[in-house]
This record gives sequence, structure tokens and C-alpha cells, in this order.
Amino acid sequence: MINAAVLGACGRMGSLIIENITSSTNMQLVAAFDVGNIGRDAGEFAHVGNLGIQISDVKDLETVLKKTQTEVLIDFTIAGATIVNAPVAAGCGVNLIIGTTGLTPEQRAVIDEAIRKNKVRAVISPNYSVGVNVFFKIVREAAKYLADYDIEIIEAHHNQKKDAPSGTALRAADVISEVLGGKEYVYGREGIAPRGKEIGIHAVRGGDITGDHSVLFVGNSERIEIRHMAHSRQIFAKGAVRAAEWVCGEEPGIYNMDDVLGL
Ligand SMILES: NC(=O)c1ccc[n+]([C@@H]2O[C@H](COP(=O)([O-])OP(=O)(O)OC[C@H]3O[C@@H](n4cnc5c(N)ncnc54)[C@H](O)[C@@H]3O)[C@@H](O)[C@H]2O)c1
Repeated sequence: MINAAVLGACGRMGSLIIENITSSTNMQLVAAFDVGNIGRDAGEFAHVGNLGIQISDVKDLETVLKKTQTEVLIDFTIAGATIVNAPVAAGCGVNLIIGTTGLTPEQRAVIDEAIRKNKVRAVISPNYSVGVNVFFKIVREAAKYLADYDIEIIEAHHNQKKDAPSGTALRAADVISEVLGGKEYVYGREGIAPRGKEIGIHAVRGGDITGDHSVLFVGNSERIEIRHMAHSRQIFAKGAVRAAEWVCGEEPGIYNMDDVLGL
């Protein structure tokens, strides 16, 4: 049995991840962390009944990870929390699954360094859904043939999402940029600005949209639109638990969902 812990345990994603861990046959929840609801049972938020695992204060991360012999920590919180907590967990020899989005390149570099220095294993992905990672692959393939087309990315999420544009939209832009060579990104459009060869990235926020992403390749007289629409957050939670099970059997290093899924 792999000993797993969840950071952001009371959140939309954290609670779903706990639900998925409880139905896993080779992983067990040994700890759950958040900034509030300390002392309440983690199962309460995951709607799976009493698990006998209380929400621990994230301030006690190091002590609790060591005491519970946690092997993998799944973190879906906010960038400001992940930048502090991921190095602490890595320092305890704990493997990491990082789902938090909105990390700056500088924050990402600090996290990568902590993972490498402590020789732990990590999967870091802005999107743990199988479908989205196949979507990235299709986008990469299309970009090879459509270099001259105007490229726009449009994403839509619920009104509680804190960061914009989404990590998935940025990853789609990076995938295209890797194929076509350093592309400039333009976020939203306002005022008078001629279109160049940049990638336009646009964010919509409203209601309870789980997560939609469209990549448009627009030429004269035609366009191709590649779209992924998430119907439920379960796709991310299932992918994160799958990544956690997978990474514990790998060599130390930093992996993404292409590695987990063998894409
Ligand atoms: N990679 C993916 O597949 C994927 C999918 C969905 C969401 N996300 C990302 O996951 C993150 C969480 O999303 P959500 O919808 O669950 O948000 P949420 O606001 O519902 O949950 C975040 C949780 O983190 C907790 N938290 C905040 N600061 C903390 C800290 N310092 N220490 C510990 N816990 C802390 C909050 O109390 C809350 O319970 C976001 O960055 C989101 O973009 C990633």
C-alpha cells in the first residue's frame, strides 16, 4: 500500500482526490492538510464517511509527513502555498504530484531544484485529464502543418478560478511554440494593435464551467478548431491518483502526464 497525503484537502480538487484514494486498491490516505477546518475528518469533505484522518494544519506539514511515513503528497492548492510546501515535502523525501496552476517560471525553478536536490519523484502537470493530454498531442501535430495560420487559444472556467489564463491554455501555447519556435503570447486584445504571428490567449470566467479549451488555427477561407471540454473534475482527480501510483515506481526525477500515460 502506498501512503498518500493530500494538500488542499477541503478544496474542490483535494476532496475529490481523497474520494478517489479511498477507492484505490493500492493507495491509502494517511494525512490531509489545509489552512482551515483543522481537526475535522477528511472524509467529511470527500463525502465518503468518516476516514479517521483529521485535517492537519499545513504549518505541521513536516512533522505529520514524517510521522505518517507519507510516500506521496498530492498538492492542489495555490501557487503561493505550493512554492512553500513542495520544498518542505521534498526535503522529507516525499514524492510529489503537483496540480496547482499559476506557478511563475521562477517558482517552478525553485520547486524543480528542491525535487532534484532531494532525489524524489514528481509529476507536475497543469492538467491531469487523459483527454487533455491527448488534445495536446493533436495540437502539436496540427501545428506542424499550420505554421502560417493565425493561432488563438480560448479557455473558459468557473467564476471561482483564481489564475488566468489557465495553466492548460498556457501549456497548449507552449506545445505550439515548441513546434513553431519561440512564439510571442498576447493575452486578450484591447485597443489598436495589428495582428502579427503571435498566439492570442483569451480567458472567459463564469458560473460553473469545469474547463473548456479551444485552439483555433485560422487561415484565409478556413479554420480548424481543436476543442476539449471537461464535464467533471473527476477526470483531473482520477489522473492525479493514477500519476501518484505510477510515480512511486519510477526513478527519481520530474515527469509530466505524457510520461504517466506513455503518450
Ligand atoms: N492540474 C490539474 O489537472 C488541475 C485541475 C483542476 C484544478 N487545478 C488547480 O488546482 C488548484 C486548486 O483548485 P481547486 O478548484 O480545488 O481550488 P479550491 O479553492 O477549491 O481549493 C484549494 C484548497 O487549497 C487550500 N489552501 C489554500 N492555501 C493553502 C495553504 N497555504 N496550505 C494548504 N492548503 C491551502 C484552500 O483552503 C482550499 O481548501 C488551482 O491551482 C487549480 O487551478 C489543477
